Amino acid sequence: MTTALAEERRDARADGAAPPRRRHALDLDDFSRDEITGLLDSADAMRELLRRSIKKAPSLRGKVILTLFLEPSTRTRVSFEQAGKMLSADVINISGSGSSAEKGESLLNTALTLQAMRADLLVVRSPHSGAPYFLARNLDRMGVVNAGDGRHAHPTQALLDLMTMRRSLGDLAGKRVVIVGDALHSRVARSDVFGLRALGASVTLCGPPTLLPLDLLRGGGAGVPAAGIPGVSVEHDLDRAIADADAVIALRIQQERQEAGALPGMREYTRRWQVTEARYRKAKPGALLMHPGPMNEGIEIASSLAHAPGALIEEQVTNGVAVRMALLYQLLTGEREGGEA
Ligand code: CP
Repeated sequence: MTTALAEERRDARADGAAPPRRRHALDLDDFSRDEITGLLDSADAMRELLRRSIKKAPSLRGKVILTLFLEPSTRTRVSFEQAGKMLSADVINISGSGSSAEKGESLLNTALTLQAMRADLLVVRSPHSGAPYFLARNLDRMGVVNAGDGRHAHPTQALLDLMTMRRSLGDLAGKRVVIVGDALHSRVARSDVFGLRALGASVTLCGPPTLLPLDLLRGGGAGVPAAGIPGVSVEHDLDRAIADADAVIALRIQQERQEAGALPGMREYTRRWQVTEARYRKAKPGALLMHPGPMNEGIEIASSLAHAPGALIEEQVTNGVAVRMALLYQLLTGEREGGEA
């Protein structure tokens, strides 16, 4: 999925010209390496604000951010709200329940109504893949941030994952990251792949054949590099995939998105694809263990590992606030660095 703006940005990069100011953040496939590293640098600086006793900076005073969550969320919704408020923006939260969407108002008419109130930015989560792209095409004054659309993309989760890995591993070029689980339904996996490849890491997707995103892999088979994206490979055997990995990301089994028959029995899944202590020991010493949350402890990740030293799951959440501050700052001011906030 691309937008006219994304194409314009790509053309400008190809011509060596400065791309137009980014108004929307829809997925990482249209972010350059420099843009991602700039955001991560900014997020590292923004993170300092979380340590202060008064967690407030005036950078976005006078800006209005709306969050529209049409699917459940804890981490993403709260951290966007916290990020906006810490930078002194006014943040207004809307959910499907209690809004006029319940009376049948369409997504576009809801967004046009919010734009008419002169909001600056709409952060949207939708069960429908592509919904934020549709809004970005149809809103002329309000920017759009994708906070997760169906099974398609979750760019800010990918940014916080990259930030977490970079803070522990340094430069991600040449690092090997294993993403294990239900990649087929995972918008996190798709965005992580784009972000990791942009920063030069290689990715192994591991899971049952029925839960791997064949459209993304375009021809990759067991042990064979995916045809569509260099540096991305598939391995169905988790013991083999995890050997010497620098980081392991366990994905949530998305019960709410399963088609009949795609998921092996839960006992079979747990036996073959759960990240257990024994399997984690096969990764590089000190390998990072991550999960986007919410976790099904005891299914995709052993309960004994979920809160163990080395597991960075809560660190990911903290970084999520910082990365969202950096993104909001850049989208609303046009500036990359937020260190002075
Ligand atoms: N990782 C993630 O998107 O979590 P939430 O659904 O709680 O926002």
